[in-house]
Amino acid sequence: MSDKESIQTNHSRRNFLKGATGAVVAGVSASAFSGAVQATEQTVDWRSSLGKKNDKRFWNKVQKQFVLDKRTTYMNIGTTGSMPKHVLEGYEHNNKLVAKYPWDMKGEFGGFPYVSDMIADIAPGFGANADELVLSRNTTDGLCSIINGLHFEPGDVILTTHHEHVAATSPMNVAKHRFGVDVIEVQLPVFTGTENVTEEDYVQAFRDAIEAHPNVRLMVFSHITYKTGTTLPAKAICSLAKEHRIPTLVDGAHTVGMFALDLHDMDCDFYAGSGHKWQCGPGATGILYVRDNGRRLDEYWSDRQNPLWLINSSLSHADHLGKQMQMQYVGNDNYPAKQALADSCKMWDEIGRDRIQERILELSHQCKTLLIEALPHVKLYSPNVEGLTSGLTTFSPFDDGTDEQRLISFRDRLREEYGYIIRTTSFKLYKEDVYETHALRISTHLFHDEKDVEGLVQAIADLYYSF
Ligand SMILES: Cc1ncc(COP(=O)(O)O)c(C=O)c1O
Repeated sequence: MSDKESIQTNHSRRNFLKGATGAVVAGVSASAFSGAVQATEQTVDWRSSLGKKNDKRFWNKVQKQFVLDKRTTYMNIGTTGSMPKHVLEGYEHNNKLVAKYPWDMKGEFGGFPYVSDMIADIAPGFGANADELVLSRNTTDGLCSIINGLHFEPGDVILTTHHEHVAATSPMNVAKHRFGVDVIEVQLPVFTGTENVTEEDYVQAFRDAIEAHPNVRLMVFSHITYKTGTTLPAKAICSLAKEHRIPTLVDGAHTVGMFALDLHDMDCDFYAGSGHKWQCGPGATGILYVRDNGRRLDEYWSDRQNPLWLINSSLSHADHLGKQMQMQYVGNDNYPAKQALADSCKMWDEIGRDRIQERILELSHQCKTLLIEALPHVKLYSPNVEGLTSGLTTFSPFDDGTDEQRLISFRDRLREEYGYIIRTTSFKLYKEDVYETHALRISTHLFHDEKDVEGLVQAIADLYYSF
């Protein structure tokens, strides 16, 4: 076997960009198949650059780890992210191995890794135990596995919000028609630029709904709503749910890779997130957290036999394995994609997830502040309030939110004439509204800096005045 074909691994998983020697590994292990660090990689020691003084230089190094097209500035991570260079290289390397040795459990190159090893590597970064995390396909996959698997009965209530993504509303709609479940939407307070909103406003909205509906069997809500980029106080909402012995399923599409999550501390029952968005893993990767391997669900739903059916598993009959393992195994897997997600998670862990969160929120704060300064009629729908803010900024340069076409052409011209890629979004301010409000949405992430944000707002202002 030539060197090129051999499996390479980081000899130090902590300093993954430092070690470029690529030791050949034999034997089956996750690291055998890992990041496949190439000898061309730059040397970056994240730990020695932690000082505040070096911040600019430090983030500049991070920015250089991405291969995004330099002719444009991509600011739609909320839809999907972009793999860091070394993750992409490892992914390509591992894909070639799979093509070359399609079924090789412990063959010439050391065999494919165990997904459980990858999980053990990254679970602590999310405040989870290894037996609580499933590497899923994406947020949709996680949400559907739980909602479609729950053993509902007619008259059960699912409490949700009026700003959920179709990834959640679609399986809830199935539960409604299949079992006669009532899906009740909580009216979320929606920030429209001026009024005060507090975390307690959101908790109160759920409290009122629980009191009005005694038969709530599940609560489903986004940690960050994709429409307005509002962060909901997930820990407080889960704590409220616990008081009422209601399991919680949190849609974390936008928090994985954006926030420093501690899922044990949040104490939700299920958490479904994307690996391909802010976490910058490959497409069709995600995580699904199943608290304590599903034991609390059994306790809360003790009146139901088999509360969670494993509708998406090759091992639904193997109860001794536990829910997490059973849910993980769905036929043959895409090991290179899962390894690439794990590699990206390790990079985030090494930088420090607190630090990443702080950086993203810094850029987002700058973006929101500059938009308000630059646009006389701006409507900001994302609260710039600690605890409720996120890396998403939803706004309209115009005070009239009814003209979708105008915003579509604004978005398109921003890309064509200035090179900034953002997206449009729409939502109901009030759940009874007949018409949707239309807006634009910006994502700020690790591959941006202050100049990108200034440039974007300048471009938006120029375009606004010529529109
Ligand atoms: C809030 C929310 N949930 C779920 C999804 C679906 O994510 P995925 O593509 O990972 O299934 C999205 C996608 O944008 C989203 O914004």
